[in-house]
Amino acid sequence: MGAKIISGKELSASLRAQIAEETAKLPVRPGLGVVLVGDNPASVSYVTAKEKACRETGMYSREIRLPAETTKEALLGTIRELNSDEAIHGILVQLPLPKHIPEKEVIEAISPDKDVDGFTAINVGRMLIGEKCFLPCTPHGILKLIEFAGMDLSGKHAVVIGRSNIVGKPVAVLLARKETNATVTLCHTGTNDLKSYTRQADVVVVAAGRPDTLTGDMIKEGAVVIDVGVNRIPDETRPSGFRLVGDADFESCAQKASAITPVPGGVGPMTITMLLWNTLESAKRHAAR
Ligand code: GUN
Repeated sequence: MGAKIISGKELSASLRAQIAEETAKLPVRPGLGVVLVGDNPASVSYVTAKEKACRETGMYSREIRLPAETTKEALLGTIRELNSDEAIHGILVQLPLPKHIPEKEVIEAISPDKDVDGFTAINVGRMLIGEKCFLPCTPHGILKLIEFAGMDLSGKHAVVIGRSNIVGKPVAVLLARKETNATVTLCHTGTNDLKSYTRQADVVVVAAGRPDTLTGDMIKEGAVVIDVGVNRIPDETRPSGFRLVGDADFESCAQKASAITPVPGGVGPMTITMLLWNTLESAKRHAAR
């Protein structure tokens, strides 16, 4: 195995130390409102990790856990309260929501000034046209990881697999910005002959939500692999009964890649770190007003 491991855990630790230092210096304490509806196990574990990260960096976090039967109106009411709460600078509604609640309507109810996930149409639009905005956390974390790995993507070919609003589409937009200057191909479930694209890639970002989407035979020698997948695979040898794997087959990709992000410990911790980053940024703007 020749690939360098790009540790999101290590980069997160250094960024979180920096965030904690800045948090301590601010005249206002950055506050994050975290809303979880229902008890989806993956969502509970994400939300718990986000709250712990807030505490560890000295931020204030307010958890609002609502039952799965919560009505849309009640949830919108909660968001309105957080929108007008001076102690809250960032609002996060954990997705997915139960099926009876329309996600789009809920996201758009979040004040764009507190939308630290960068999910509202206003922030997505600002990102697309290159205006100041909250960048979505996972794509922002991926940019930081690429920078941390010392990669210059200018003129290089980046292949993104996945077209979600949360990862695939924004990653493609951000990699193509002048600052990064990559040539981007966006592949998805409708792509014919996926490996004909991935084999040309200098960097592959795989965010397909399916294990083994990317295997070693699909990449060129020396490529960089950024694995966004978080898939729970049954594993009776673990006390939890499962283990986490990414969307890339780590063993075969690591044989050929020059660098690869692990799962866990790669992109995952960066998502939370960039959420803290955006919350700090929001609090700084609040303090400056
Ligand atoms: N569900 C999966 N990823 C995310 C995320 O980054 N933010 C929110 N709010 N929900 C998610």
